[in-house]
Amino acid sequence: MKLVATFIFSLFNGLVWAETGKEGFQTNFDVTNWIFILIMLFVIYLTSGILRQVLQTLKQRLKGKSGQEEVLLLTEIEDIGEQRRVFIYLGLMFLALYGIYYFVEGTTWEAHVVEWLNLIVRWTHVVFGIAWIGASFYFNFLENALNRKEGLRDELAGNLWAIHGGGFYYLEKYKVAPKEIPKELHWFKYEAYFTWLSGFTLLVIVYYLDANVYLIDKSVLDISPQSAVGIGLVSLALGWLGYDMLCKSALAKRQTLFWFILFAFIAGFAWFFLQVFSPRAAYIHVGALIGTMMAGNVFRVIIPSQKAMVNAAKRGGSPNPLLGKRALQRSRHNNYLTLPVIFIMISNHFPTTYGNEWNWFILIGLSLTSVLVKHYLNVIEEGRKAVWIMPIAVVCMFGLTFISAPRPKEVCKDGEATKFEEVRLIVDQRCVQCHSENPTDDTQKVPPNGVVFDKDEDIVAYADRILNRAVVTKTMPQANKTEMTQEERDALQCWIDHGAKLK
Ligand code: HEC
Repeated sequence: MKLVATFIFSLFNGLVWAETGKEGFQTNFDVTNWIFILIMLFVIYLTSGILRQVLQTLKQRLKGKSGQEEVLLLTEIEDIGEQRRVFIYLGLMFLALYGIYYFVEGTTWEAHVVEWLNLIVRWTHVVFGIAWIGASFYFNFLENALNRKEGLRDELAGNLWAIHGGGFYYLEKYKVAPKEIPKELHWFKYEAYFTWLSGFTLLVIVYYLDANVYLIDKSVLDISPQSAVGIGLVSLALGWLGYDMLCKSALAKRQTLFWFILFAFIAGFAWFFLQVFSPRAAYIHVGALIGTMMAGNVFRVIIPSQKAMVNAAKRGGSPNPLLGKRALQRSRHNNYLTLPVIFIMISNHFPTTYGNEWNWFILIGLSLTSVLVKHYLNVIEEGRKAVWIMPIAVVCMFGLTFISAPRPKEVCKDGEATKFEEVRLIVDQRCVQCHSENPTDDTQKVPPNGVVFDKDEDIVAYADRILNRAVVTKTMPQANKTEMTQEERDALQCWIDHGAKLK
C-alpha cells in the first residue's frame, strides 16, 4: 500500500513540477522509499522474465516439441540462477558499505573513510574498465581483421596470425561451434560485471552520499537529496528497460533508424539530467546510463546467448543461429558506445565541457564525434579505406572548441579595474571556506586539489584557473555553496581582464 502511495505521489510531484517549473517539486520521502521502488522494479522485471520463460517451456513440452528452441529456453532459465546470485552479491556489498558508513557517519573519520573508499573503488573501477574495454577492442579487432578467404578448413570462419610479447600466436574462429566443446573454455564476463559494480558503487560514494555537494545544484533545481538520488536510480533502471525493449523491437532490423532513435533516447536523458542535477552529476549520469546498457548487454544478452550456444553444442544439437545474432547486435552497440562513455568518465576534469552554457550540445557533439572515430578504426581494421572520417572528426573537435569558448563582455564598472582589496574580500567570503590550509567547510576537510587562497600571492598565481572555474564555467564555488553572486563574478573577471595585479 505504502509503495503504491509513494509511487502515485512521485508521479504527482513530477506533474506539479512540469506544470509549475521549479516550484512545488519537493518530497519528504526518505531514501528507503526510493530504494524500495527500485528493488521492486527489478523484482518485477526478473520474475516476469522467469515466469514467461517457464510458461513457454511448459507449452513446448506439452506440444512435445524438442530441439533448438527448447534448449534455448531451458538454458536461459538456468542462467537466471546465476543472475540472481549477482543481485544478492550486490545487496550484500551495499549492506557492508552501509554498515561502514553507519559507524563513521558524523565522526571525524567520516571524510577520511569516504575518501579511502573512493580511492579503492575508483582504482578497481579503472582497472576493470581497462580490462573490459581492452578485451572488447581486441576481439573487435579480431573480428575485423580475420583472414576469411585463404586456405580455410570448412568449419572455419577465419584465422589470424599475430606476434606479441616475443611469441607468435595463431588463432581460428569457428563458423558455429567446434564438434566437441573443449574442457577449458575461457569466458570474458567478470570484467564487465565488476566494472559496472564498482562504477555503481562509486556513483553512490561520490554523488549519493554527498548529494548536497555533488549531485544537487540549487541554481538548477532545488530538490531534496532523497528525491535526487531516487531520480538517479530510477532513471538508470528505466534507461536499461527502454533500451532493451528498443533492441527487441522490430526497429532493430532497420539499422539507421534504430541508431537515430537510440541516439535521441540518450540525448533525451542527457537533457533531463541537466534539468535536475548539477551539470557535472548530469554528465556522469549519462555515462552511468550508457555503462548500464553496456554491462546489461553482457549480463542479460551476450553471456546467456553464449551459454545457450555451448549447451546446445554439448547436447549434440547445433545452436540456434539467432543466439549468435542477438549477441553480436549488442556487442556492436557496446563497441560504438565505448568512446563516448570514456569521455564522460573523464569529463569531470573538464569544467569547460559540463560547466558550459552549451553543455548539452557539447556532450552530444563529443559523443557523436567519438562514435565517428570508432567507426574509422573499425573500417581501417577491416582493411578498407576511409579518408573522409578523420578530417570530419577534427573539424567537429575544432567546432566544439570554438562553440564552448568564452565570449568577451564588458564587465568593469566605469571601465576601471577591480581593486585587489575587493578581490581579497570576495575570495575570503566565497572560497577560503574550502580552499585554505585549514578549511572551515563541513565536508571539505583538506584543501580541494591542494588549491589554497590564504596568501595574496596565491590568488594572483591561480588567476587563470579562478577565471575558468568561478567566472567562465561557474563551477566554483562548489554547488555555489557559499552563494557567490554574478556581480562578484564580474568583479573577479574585471580584475583578471586588467592583468590580475596585486596593486
Ligand atoms: C564548498 C567547497 C568549495 C568552495 C567554497 C570553493 N571550492 Fe573550489 N574546489 C572545491 C572542490 C571540491 C574542488 C575539486 C573538484 C573540482 O575540481 O571540481 C575544487 C577545485 C577548484 C579549482 C580547480 C583546481 C585545479 O586543480 O584545477 C579551482 C581553480 C577552484 N576550486 C577555485 C575556487 C574559487 C575561485 C572559489 C571561490 C569563488 C572556490 N573554488 C570555492 C571546493 C570548493
